[in-house]
Amino acid sequence: MLEVSNLMVFYENALALNDFSMNVKAGTIVAVIGSNSAGKTTLMNTLSGLIIDTKIKEQRKGGERITTYGTIRFDGEDITDMYPSDRVKKGMVLCRERHPIFPESDLVENLRIAAYLRNRSEISEAIEYVFQLFPTLVRLKTRKAGFLSGGEQQMLTIGMALMVKPRLLLLDEPLLGLSPIMQVTLVDAIKKIRNETGLTIVITEQFARPILPMIDHGYIIENGMLTMEGHGSELMENPEVKGAYFGV
Ligand SMILES: Nc1ncnc2c1ncn2[C@@H]1O[C@H](COP(=O)(O)OP(=O)(O)OP(=O)(O)O)[C@@H](O)[C@H]1O
Ligand SMILES: [Mg+2]
Repeated sequence: MLEVSNLMVFYENALALNDFSMNVKAGTIVAVIGSNSAGKTTLMNTLSGLIIDTKIKEQRKGGERITTYGTIRFDGEDITDMYPSDRVKKGMVLCRERHPIFPESDLVENLRIAAYLRNRSEISEAIEYVFQLFPTLVRLKTRKAGFLSGGEQQMLTIGMALMVKPRLLLLDEPLLGLSPIMQVTLVDAIKKIRNETGLTIVITEQFARPILPMIDHGYIIENGMLTMEGHGSELMENPEVKGAYFGV
């Protein structure tokens, strides 16, 4: 479904992604694991096309020069130069690291805003699904999103991404800053999404332990470079992975 070949991203002269390639089959969950500054967000922004927006903005204000090389194919089509909004229309949806919400609007309004491209009956159906997935959110329907806890906001932002009806969901560090219990809740929800909707998911994380059991394939990156890849269980067994990405 998604083929990434030889991606390179430079911020001025600094290399953030170095010849990175990956392949994501439809209906699978694929993880990209790396520590701080490994290039996870850069990868997600390149996949979603957000980096094109950033590049244009920087050019306009005479800021830093961002250069990208390599190709991205989605369903066989070369989308490397496609704008992010067009990628969303094709079904690629990114849930960013600390995804922005509308703090003054309530939870349901946030879900509706995210679904502005869809018709009314689809919207109510999608909202129902989000509540089925995250029952905790039901009693928070009318709470201003800005007053939700970190974990609740994270559920909301995944819900917002689902409102767009993605075919490929990109999750940039969805477990960031969450308690172990909340991490389990989110991991269970992500598995459920894949099993119930057949959605394809790419997820980045700094810590491998909570997510390796659910993934089909994983890539480990260090300083923007692929250092290891394999099935979730292979990576679980790997002493280097255990040492570096299992946390304490
Ligand atoms: N806009 C930018 N301008 C310059 N350098 C950048 C920019 N964005 C990221 N970088 C650099 O690129 C490298 C990769 O950053 P990136 O945010 O992709 O890492 P990450 O794996 O997401 O890290 P984290 O776990 O902290 O979120 C880092 O060295 C970072 O400082
Ligand atoms: Mg990041």
